[in-house]
Amino acid sequence: MNDIKDVVEEIKNRCDIASVISEYMPIKQSGGNYKGLCPFHGEKTPSFHISSSKQIYKCFGCGEGGDVINFVMKMENLDFIDAVKLLANKCGIEINTNMNEEDKLRIEKSKKYQDIHLEAARFYFANLLKGKNPGYDYLRKRGLDDKTIKKFGLGYSQNAWHELMDYLLSKGYDKSDLVQSGLVNHKVDGDRYYDRFRNRVMFPIFDYRGNVIGFGGRVLDDSLPKYLNSPDSLIFNKRYNLYGLNFSRKNIVDRTIVLVEGYMDLISLFQYGVRNVVATLGTALTEQQGNLIKRYADTAIISYDSDEAGIKASLRAIEILSKVGINIKVLNLKDAKDPDEFIRKYGLDDYKKAIDDSTHYIKFQINHLKRKFNLEKDEERVKFAKEASNILKSIKSPVEVDYYTNYIAKQINISTESIKKEIYGKNYNSAYNKNYTKYTNKKRESIVIEKPKAIEHGKEHVEETLIKLMLENKKIRHVALLKLDESDFLLNGSKEILNYIIKNRELDKITIDKITSLNISEEYLKDLERISLDGININDTKSIDEIVRNLKKNNLQEQMNRLLQEQKNIEKQKTNKDDLKEVDVKVMEIALKIVEIRKMLHSL
Ligand code: GTP
Ligand code: MN
Repeated sequence: MNDIKDVVEEIKNRCDIASVISEYMPIKQSGGNYKGLCPFHGEKTPSFHISSSKQIYKCFGCGEGGDVINFVMKMENLDFIDAVKLLANKCGIEINTNMNEEDKLRIEKSKKYQDIHLEAARFYFANLLKGKNPGYDYLRKRGLDDKTIKKFGLGYSQNAWHELMDYLLSKGYDKSDLVQSGLVNHKVDGDRYYDRFRNRVMFPIFDYRGNVIGFGGRVLDDSLPKYLNSPDSLIFNKRYNLYGLNFSRKNIVDRTIVLVEGYMDLISLFQYGVRNVVATLGTALTEQQGNLIKRYADTAIISYDSDEAGIKASLRAIEILSKVGINIKVLNLKDAKDPDEFIRKYGLDDYKKAIDDSTHYIKFQINHLKRKFNLEKDEERVKFAKEASNILKSIKSPVEVDYYTNYIAKQINISTESIKKEIYGKNYNSAYNKNYTKYTNKKRESIVIEKPKAIEHGKEHVEETLIKLMLENKKIRHVALLKLDESDFLLNGSKEILNYIIKNRELDKITIDKITSLNISEEYLKDLERISLDGININDTKSIDEIVRNLKKNNLQEQMNRLLQEQKNIEKQKTNKDDLKEVDVKVMEIALKIVEIRKMLHSL
C-alpha cells in the first residue's frame, strides 16, 4: 500500500479497537460497548470506555481518549509512525510509501543488516544451549538466571575464526554485507576474512523498537580489552542509541529513568526488578542520547560506578542532561563498586531507597568539589567558596540559589551574604533582585504563554464561554464532556478547570470561587467573570454543539499551524547532506500528523 492515509484507514477498518485493547488489559462487554480499568491513571472502578461503533476509547476519569492508533502510541510509548507500523504489521498491511530509488536501497540494506544481526544473535544464543560451554558458565557465575539470559538474548561467540561467517554465508548472505554490518573483519593484506567476536559472551544491542543493531562482546576473564563493541554502521550508531531502552520504555513510571554505564549493570537491575533503566554504549553520554532520554523522562537518576572514573563520567553526564533540560539526581552506591554489585549485595528495596535518597546534582557537584580542598586551611576554604559559588551561577531559581548558598555556607562556616556577593558581584543586592525579578517575570511569561500569539481573541472567547457554560449548568457539562477532553483546549486555565469539572460533574452548579484554589491565572479568572452568557440559550443543544465544534476547529487549526511552522524550521536546518535523511523523516512524520488533522477538521 502506497499512501499512508490509506494505511491509516485500512488499519482502522481491520483492527478492531476492542480486540487490540484486550491484548493489553482485561475489558468487559457492556451493551454494544466495553469497559475496563483505565491503564493511564490509577482507579478502582472502571471509567475507561470503548465504543465499538465509533472505534474509539475514552476514559471519563482522566480524560484520555482516541482511536486505536492513539491507544497503541500511548500504551507502547511510540510515535505516530511507529504505532502505524506496529498495527499495520499486526493486521497484515504492507506499507510501501513513495520513495526514491536511493531511499529504497538504503532501507532495503538496513533491513538486510538487521536480519543479519538477528540471525547472528540467534546463532550466539544457540551456542549457549550447546551442552557445556564457557559462555553459559560465565553468565551463570555472574548471577544471571535463565529467564534473564533469554530476555536479553545473551549468547556466546565460540573460540574459533569463522563459525559465524560460515553460518551466515550458508544462509545466503554476501561476504561484503557481513563485513559492512561489522560482524566480520576483512584483512586486506592477505585477503583474510574472520569473525569479529571470538570467545566472548555476547550482548545484542537493540534499538528502541527491539531490532538487533549491534553487539557488545565481553571476554570471559580479566584480559583486555574487556569489551569489544560493533563498529558504527548503517544501522548502528553508539551516539544515538541507549542500551535497554526497548525494554525500559514500557516500564517508565513518573517519567523517571535510571542511567547506568554497563550492560551488566542494566541486566542485573532488570533481573532484580528495577525496570526503568537505560545504559550508554561504552562512550560518554551524548547530547543525542540526552534528547532520547528527554522523550521518555523528566528526571534522570545517574547511577554510575562509584570509582573516580564513574564520578567523572557522572559530572559529564550532568553537563549534557542539564543542557537538555532534565532534572538530574545522582545515586549513592554506598560501598558497592557498581549498581550490579549493589543490587546483588543489598537487594531491590535498598536500591529503591537509594533512588529515593539520591542527591540533587548541584549538591553532588559541590560535594565533589569539596573533596579537592583541605577545608582546615583558610585560603583553601576561600577557594572552595569561590568555586562553589560558580556552580550556583547556572541555577535560575532563586529558591534553589538560597538553598544551596546555605548549604555551601554551612560546609565552611561563612555567611551566606558573602557567597551571594560572590555569585552576583559587588552590587549583589540589586543584582540578586534583578535576577529574582527576571525569574518571576519569566514565570509570569510562562503564564502569558497561556495565550500564545496565535490565539486570537475570538478563540479565547469561545473556550472561556464554553468553560463558563459548563460551570453553570450540569446538563451542558454532561453533553460537553462526552465530546471533549483536555487536549481540545488551548489555555492552561481551561484545562485546569476542565479537570476540576470532570471530578465534580455531579454538582448542580460550580461557582467561580470554588476554582480559585486551582493554579489559574488572575487574568483568566477575570476573563471568565467578564464573559456574558446572555445571548446563549442553554437548552438549545445545537448552539452548544456549535460552540464545541468551533472550539475543536480552533484547536486543530492551531495544532496545524504549529506543525507547519515546525516543518519550516526543520527545513531551514537542513545543512549538510548527512542531516538530510533524518530531516526528511521528521518532515514526513509531521506531514502525516497534518494529514490526520486535516481529516479531523473535515469530519467536524
Ligand atoms: P562487567 O565488568 O562485566 O561488570 O561489565 P560492565 O557492563 O559493568 O562494564 P563496566 O562498568 O566496566 O563498563 C561500562 C561499559 O563501558 C561497558 O558495558 C561497555 O559498554 C563499556 N566498556 C567497558 N570496557 C570497555 C572496553 O574495553 N572497550 C570498549 N569499547 N568498551 C568498554
Ligand atoms: Mn560491572
